[in-house]
Amino acid sequence: MLSLANAFSPEEVVEFIARVRRFLGLEPEQPLEVTAEPKIDGLSIALRYESGRLVEAATRGDGFEGENVTANVRTIRSIPHALEAKVAPEVFEVRGEIYFGRADFAKLNVEQRAAGGKVFANPRNAAAGSLRQIDPTITATRPLRFFAYAWGEAPELPADTQHGVIDAFARWRLPVNPLMRTCASAADLIAYHRGIEAQRPSLDYDIDGVVYKVNSLDWQERLGFVSRAPRWAI
Ligand code: IVH
Repeated sequence: MLSLANAFSPEEVVEFIARVRRFLGLEPEQPLEVTAEPKIDGLSIALRYESGRLVEAATRGDGFEGENVTANVRTIRSIPHALEAKVAPEVFEVRGEIYFGRADFAKLNVEQRAAGGKVFANPRNAAAGSLRQIDPTITATRPLRFFAYAWGEAPELPADTQHGVIDAFARWRLPVNPLMRTCASAADLIAYHRGIEAQRPSLDYDIDGVVYKVNSLDWQERLGFVSRAPRWAI
């Protein structure tokens, strides 16, 4: 996975779309939908729900083995302990980002300084420090927030598109980013990136780019991965 944080030029977005179209063998008139969303600068987390109940939360760690942070994650108010679904999936691993709002971060540092405690360098470190507390009652005092944007183990999916699954997350009462859009062309994606760049200073959280994902899950599967990076996203 690569992000579009100044590192990618508009030409590279055009090339990404062209590469995906070529790989899938799409005719020029065949539409290709791609979702666009901010890349949150926080901590990657996996939440395991069994029969709709939160049973485990782990940081991503090295990608294979994470740290178990279940007790601390249970103190985050916006993360549901039970999914709001009539028929909850037997197993569903939700992936997303835990982050600290900018205003909350500034306030935390004022309090920490006053109390002679640890002052954090940035919101990401504040999120990491707050999540890794040994005592969950301390984590509970920190206003950590969460956006769900992906999934891991999920034997059955609630939709056949990226955006459809995220809409299901919202119905399950998981917090999702309201700035996510579905785009129909490279030009739309580039315009989206410009719009987010313009909004960036007024967002209440840090982002480090924009993530684009092929909307069709069948096509994501066909595109697959190249050395752990999905061919269906940048
Ligand atoms: S998609 C299965 N979407 O970026 C995970 N990643 O992915 C698929 N990140 O450390 C990742 N915001 O924690 C995705 N909206 C977003 C994201 C996002 C932040 C992070 C993620 C990971 C890195 C690369």
